[in-house]
Amino acid sequence: MLETDVSPTNINPTIYLKDYQKPEFLIPEVMLDFALNQASTLVVATMQVKRSSGSGTPLVLHGEKMQLVSLAINGKTLSDAEYQIDAESLTILNVPDAFELEVQTELLPHLNTELSGLYQSSGNFCTQCEAEGFRRITYFLDRPDVLSVYRVRLTADVVDCPVLLSNGNPVASGRNDDNTHWAEWFDPHPKPSYLFALVAGNLEHVTDHFTTASGNKVELNIYAQQHNIEKCDHAMASLKKSMRWDEDVYGREYDLDIYNIVAVDDFNMGAMENKGLNVFNSKYVLANQDTATDLDYEGIESVIAHEYFHNWSGNRVTCRDWFQLSLKEGFTVFRDQEFSADMGSRAVKRIRDVQSLRAFQFKEDAGPMAHPVRPDSYQEINNFYTSTIYQKGAEVIRMMRELVGVEGFRRGTDLYFDRFDGQAVTTEDFVTSIEQANDIDLAQFRLWYTQSGTPSIRVQQSYTDQTLTLTIQQSCPATPGQDRKRPFQMPLCIALLLPSGEKVLQQTLVLTEDEQSFEFSGLPEQPVVSMLRGFSAPVKLEYNQSDDELLTLVSFDDDGFVRWEAMQRLCLKLLLPAVENGSINEAAYSRVRDAFLKLLTEPCHDKAMLAEMLSLPTASYLAELSEAIEPRQISLIRQQCVQRLAKDLESPFHTVYAQQGQNTDFSLDAESMASRSLKNRTLMYLVATGQPAYYALASHQYHAANTMTDRLSAFTALVHSSYPDRQALIDHFYQQWKDDPLVMDKWFAMQAIAPRDNLLPDIEQLMSNPTFSINNPNKVRSLIGAFTSNLLAFHQQDGAGYKFLVDCVIQLNTINPQVAARLISTINNWRRYAQPYQSLMCTQLERLANENGLASDVTEIVSKALK
Ligand code: PHE
Ligand code: ZN
Repeated sequence: MLETDVSPTNINPTIYLKDYQKPEFLIPEVMLDFALNQASTLVVATMQVKRSSGSGTPLVLHGEKMQLVSLAINGKTLSDAEYQIDAESLTILNVPDAFELEVQTELLPHLNTELSGLYQSSGNFCTQCEAEGFRRITYFLDRPDVLSVYRVRLTADVVDCPVLLSNGNPVASGRNDDNTHWAEWFDPHPKPSYLFALVAGNLEHVTDHFTTASGNKVELNIYAQQHNIEKCDHAMASLKKSMRWDEDVYGREYDLDIYNIVAVDDFNMGAMENKGLNVFNSKYVLANQDTATDLDYEGIESVIAHEYFHNWSGNRVTCRDWFQLSLKEGFTVFRDQEFSADMGSRAVKRIRDVQSLRAFQFKEDAGPMAHPVRPDSYQEINNFYTSTIYQKGAEVIRMMRELVGVEGFRRGTDLYFDRFDGQAVTTEDFVTSIEQANDIDLAQFRLWYTQSGTPSIRVQQSYTDQTLTLTIQQSCPATPGQDRKRPFQMPLCIALLLPSGEKVLQQTLVLTEDEQSFEFSGLPEQPVVSMLRGFSAPVKLEYNQSDDELLTLVSFDDDGFVRWEAMQRLCLKLLLPAVENGSINEAAYSRVRDAFLKLLTEPCHDKAMLAEMLSLPTASYLAELSEAIEPRQISLIRQQCVQRLAKDLESPFHTVYAQQGQNTDFSLDAESMASRSLKNRTLMYLVATGQPAYYALASHQYHAANTMTDRLSAFTALVHSSYPDRQALIDHFYQQWKDDPLVMDKWFAMQAIAPRDNLLPDIEQLMSNPTFSINNPNKVRSLIGAFTSNLLAFHQQDGAGYKFLVDCVIQLNTINPQVAARLISTINNWRRYAQPYQSLMCTQLERLANENGLASDVTEIVSKALK
């Protein structure tokens, strides 16, 4: 039975970092025995328990949403009087200081729609334990500072579940007399319960191997459903690259005989780094040229790398408590970002990462859920897998590397891994390692871990007597619970360019004060400042550079990020006032148009960069930069600018499009991907002209395409335009791909973000499409989630979009609270919107808040939003 009726209100108490206490008991060893059956799975957990502090206190284990069958200490079954049980825990009153505890529990995996604990996906069993899912499998000390050695035995039907996997190395297997078989796995590395996993089902696999630097041969397997097995090769290649890279760059080798990856269709997040048995959202494994875009291929490579890198940053060295989550996530994101930069275009990777930081993390930092990289309290840990923990956490690591240099940083990480191998530690331990390996003081730098909010940097420049003076002020707005901020220490990478483009100086300034001045003398000409190179700190930059200065940077800067950013800033000078005034300033428009023209007609050395340079700032970034967000206005003005640029530059866009060629051989090399990216960027503009000839061009590309990149780009351009045959095209795509869930995700998403009014009825209709399922997180994200990012259609002026969202969230609240909470977070920054949007969102949030039976995940988000 599931205990669903126990707690009257689901408001979690707030948990504080300051209350952290070491565990009173440890569980050095555990043996888990699973009798897998979808309707009722029996788990026998045998643990060696040892008291580590205190005396005479009871043993309190975590546990929820399962049925206790029996309990025994040292072989003796406990009577009802000897323990207490409630919705979240099991207390055994009198326990010896060292003993064997046997817990038997019963689970109902087929009813588990939350996808936490043991559940089923496409009929196969799998688990998700991070952060607190293990307590849905057995009663345990489900906290990351309790590390155990696991032995796991799985028994299941031989026909339904030919494959039986768990962590570590396989040790034995066999057949039983009934129609079942069994397998035993042993993981020698002590690990916290959140890294436990099992998978059992009818799966195929591809196999390969990797020989580590010390000569160990590791078997690599990727498991998927049979019909997807042809799509695992890119993931396998990515895994091997990741293993090599971590040896080369961090000196880290793999440490088991076998590395297994399993792709499942139902998964709350991207993927999970369970020791030796990663479980992946199939979106980040499966690809072939017909179904996956170049972006998908890049996403797979980076998530495979991310999970692999966790083997050291997360598994060998893990987190003491969940306040330290960024210790593993920020560091691992930084590692995967650098890996991707090394595999492809470093500049484009940096640009995309900054775009994503601005779209999600800056938004979070400016809203009611703003929290430091190391939070000091939370209600529901699942709500803290945030962009701040992941992406800002990665920026903080990046700044430390900038401060100590690449070699110093490696000394620091070597020290960290050596010193803390096998332990559960804190972000403080990481910073101390960097400090001690470099003999520097990072006291002030630590504020990045404790202060929330996005700092602003204000730059003023003056030039006299051959001397350039930069006056730099920093400030950080108030965030919940933090009214006043102290100045951060941060690296500001700069360069000085002569108007001719020649670089005369490059340097990293280190800011530590509210205001500082820096002088550069001996400059016969006034230089142009290349500021915040590589986006060296996660800040907002206020710096009024003239159009000419920006254009110099666009033409000559050797820092790809700054070149792109200069172009973005030029566009912002057009877009932001236009959004505010409702009309386009002609002079500002001409400068952007001329800059586009120059980019399109000059010889091009880097097509991937050119494609990035030819994109206007995203709608979400324009929203982020607005005082009071006018969502519809932002969408309309941005579209208007796209259309004008398209009309005015039709011919150069077409020339560049034609130069890329239609049917080049499919290849994933950088050159081919760059060419596709540029081709499809120009196609988008051509279609935006509204001319039938370009509709025909796009339609031809759609039908003739030999990659999903080209097909989806043409499809999207047409679906987002006034193309008269839109619906027929949508139907065609559907007929072609309705059996491929990952391609259907794209089909849903591209319709959901179409910049048009009155889209809501379409969205509602798509929800009853047979390929849609509200139980599948990928579908929810690609249809409902994508729709919430549609600045025009979601923000209807009668509030119907918001009402729809809350209706969905209410439904999801019982199906999958984690997904529900993420979805409602999209409007928790409602105070930042102009009227009437603000009040309409508030009304809907209040309606949700008054709903009975809200899960704690949702309650935390909504109550903080309305506070
Ligand atoms: N730890 C996973 C990662 O970052 C993310 C995750 C968190 C997955 C919680 C599932 C549940 O790679
Ligand atoms: Zn991670």
